[in-house]
Amino acid sequence: MCGIVAYIGRKEAYPILIKGLQRLEYRGYDSAGVAMINSGGNLNVFKRKGKVSDLVEFAKGKDLSGTVGIGHTRWATHGEPNDVNSHPHYSQSKNLVMIHNGIIENYASIKEGLKKRGNTFLSQTDTEVLIHLIEHIQQHEGTKLGQAVQAALNQVIGAYAIVVLDKNDPDTIVAAKKGSPMVIGIGDDDFYIASDASPIVEYTKNVVYLDDEQVAVLRKGHELMIRNLKDKEITPYVQKLTIELESIEKGGYDHFMLKEIYEQPRSVRDSMRGRLKANEGEIRMGGIIDHEKKFEKAKRIIFVACGTSWHACLVGEYLFEEFARVPVEVEYASEFRYRNPVIYQDDIVIAISQSGETADTLAAVELAKSKGATVLGVCNVVGSSIARATHGGSYTHAGPEIGVASTKAFTAQVTVLTLMALHMAKVRGTISESRYRQLCYEMDAIPSKIEQVLQLNDQVRQIAFANKDSSNALYLGRGVSFPVALEGALKLKEISYIHAEGYPAAEMKHGPIALIDEEMPVYVIATKGANYEKVVSNIQEVKARKGKIIAVVTSGDKEVKAVADFTVEIPETDEFLVPLIAVIPLQLLSYHIAVMRGCNVDQPRNLAKSVTVE
Ligand code: G6P
Repeated sequence: MCGIVAYIGRKEAYPILIKGLQRLEYRGYDSAGVAMINSGGNLNVFKRKGKVSDLVEFAKGKDLSGTVGIGHTRWATHGEPNDVNSHPHYSQSKNLVMIHNGIIENYASIKEGLKKRGNTFLSQTDTEVLIHLIEHIQQHEGTKLGQAVQAALNQVIGAYAIVVLDKNDPDTIVAAKKGSPMVIGIGDDDFYIASDASPIVEYTKNVVYLDDEQVAVLRKGHELMIRNLKDKEITPYVQKLTIELESIEKGGYDHFMLKEIYEQPRSVRDSMRGRLKANEGEIRMGGIIDHEKKFEKAKRIIFVACGTSWHACLVGEYLFEEFARVPVEVEYASEFRYRNPVIYQDDIVIAISQSGETADTLAAVELAKSKGATVLGVCNVVGSSIARATHGGSYTHAGPEIGVASTKAFTAQVTVLTLMALHMAKVRGTISESRYRQLCYEMDAIPSKIEQVLQLNDQVRQIAFANKDSSNALYLGRGVSFPVALEGALKLKEISYIHAEGYPAAEMKHGPIALIDEEMPVYVIATKGANYEKVVSNIQEVKARKGKIIAVVTSGDKEVKAVADFTVEIPETDEFLVPLIAVIPLQLLSYHIAVMRGCNVDQPRNLAKSVTVE
C-alpha cells in the first residue's frame, strides 16, 4: 500500500507527480505529499493529511517549481495519519528527503542507535528512521547517495519501495525496492518512477520493473544504473507497457467501480480469449501446460488468497471438487503462512491475487514453494510479484482495476478457475465428454448473459433505494452461490459501511436468524439448481419472521417471486456457472446504496487496493 511517484528530467515535476498520485490514490489516501528541488537548489516539501486534492489546495500559490521531484500517497501503518507523519520525510540535516511504501520491521532498534548518536525525530514513522540512517552512513562513510542507500538497506528487515532526493545533488534520484512494487519509466531524456505503470503510461511505454534488493540510480543525461544490495551491477531489462491510457481513466462513468462493473462482459471474454474454443470443445491454458502431469497426479489443491480473491477461491473449491474430483482446501493466506501447514510435494497450491502484490499471499507462495509444492498463480497484474514468484499460472486479463472494491477481477478470477477446473477434469478423466462440451458452450455464453444482467441496472437502483437506510444486511446462498453471498456482503460493507454478513443459507438457523425482523434485508441467491427447493424453504423461514427478502432468481421463476419483496431475474445458466452472473446485481446494488448514502465509492475509508503489508 501507499503510492509512490517520482520524476527527473526537463519537464516541471509537480504536475506529473500530482497526476501520478491521483492515479495511485487507490493504494491509500490518508495523506499526500511532494518534494521538489527548484532551480535555485532549494528543496521544497509540501505534505498534508487527507487526499491528493487536499494537498493541491494546500500547495496553491507556493513555489512548486523544479524538474526533479518525488510524491507519495499514504496508507498509514506506523503513526496516525496526520501532517507530520505524511511523506516525504527529512533526514536529520534536512538535506535528504524520502518517500516509502512498506514497513521497516527493525526500525525501533535502528532509531535507538541513531538517538544515541544525537539524531532527533519529528514523526512516529519507520520511514523517517530509514532516511536518517541513510544520511548517517552517507556522512560517516563519505559515500555517494546510492552506496549509502545500499548500505542502509543491508541493515534493514522488512519491505520497502523507496525514493530518495538529495538537495546537494539535484540531478540524481535513488530508488530501491524489496517486497513492494516499483516501475521505472524511461523517457527520451527523463525518468519516471511509480508503484505501478498507471502514472507512467502517458509519457513512455518503455519500463523496467525493479527486482527485490535492487538499487537504481537515475541521473539526468545518463543511462539508468542498477546494482543489487551485494553491489553487483544489473543490466536493466526494458519491457514495453501494454496497458492503454483509456483503461485507467473513468471514460464517462461517475466512478471507476461502475465502469469496472460494466466492463465485465468484455473482461470475462478477455479472460477466455485464446483459451476456450467452445465449438471444438477445447480449453488450452498456456501458463499451466507444463504442469499437466501434476494436475493428473495431484492429491490435493490448496487455494491461498485474501479478500475478494479468497471468495473466488471458494467458488474454485466447488468447481474443482465437482469436475476434477480432487480434494480442495481454501486458506486465508495470512493464516496459512503462520500455521506451519502440512504441504506435500504432490499438492498444487494456487494463489489468487488481483494485484499480485498482497504481502500475505506472496509469503504463502514462498512457503508453499519451500515445501516443494507446485505453486500456480492467478493474477491480474502482469509482471506482478506473485506472478513472478509462482511456477506457472494464468493471468486473468481483466485490465487495470482501480476501484478499491473488486468487481471485474472477481468474475475474471472465477472465469479462469472454471476453465482450469474443466481442463483438469479432462486431464484426469473425471468428466464426460458431453458434460465438458456443454460447460464449454455455457462458458462461451456468459459474457452476453452478463450484458443482459447489466440491463437491469434501473431495477437494481430501485431496490437499492428501498434498502439504503438499513444498518444491517444478511446475504444467503447455498452450494456454489454461498461464496457469492459472502462477496455480496463484502461489497456492501466495504463501500457503504453497512454491516453485512454472508452465510450458507441453511446455517442461518444457527445464529443469524435471531437478527431477523422487519428491518433486516435478507439478500438471497435463489437460482434454479439442485438446492433450489432448500433455498426456498430458507426464504420461508425468513418470511415467517417478517424479514425482507431480496432474491436473485432465474428468469421465469414463480415460486420465490410469490414470497419475495423484490426479485432480480438473471438468465439461466449451468448451476456451477451461476456465480459469474449472480454477483453482478449484488455489485450494482452495493454501488447504488453507497452512492445514495454519499460514500466515496472508489476510495472507501481505511481500505486500500493493494495490501503490501501483512
Ligand atoms: C484488498 C482489496 C480487495 C482485495 C484484497 C486482496 O483488501 O481492497 O479488493 O480483494 O485486498 O487483494 P489481491 O490483490 O491479492 O486480490
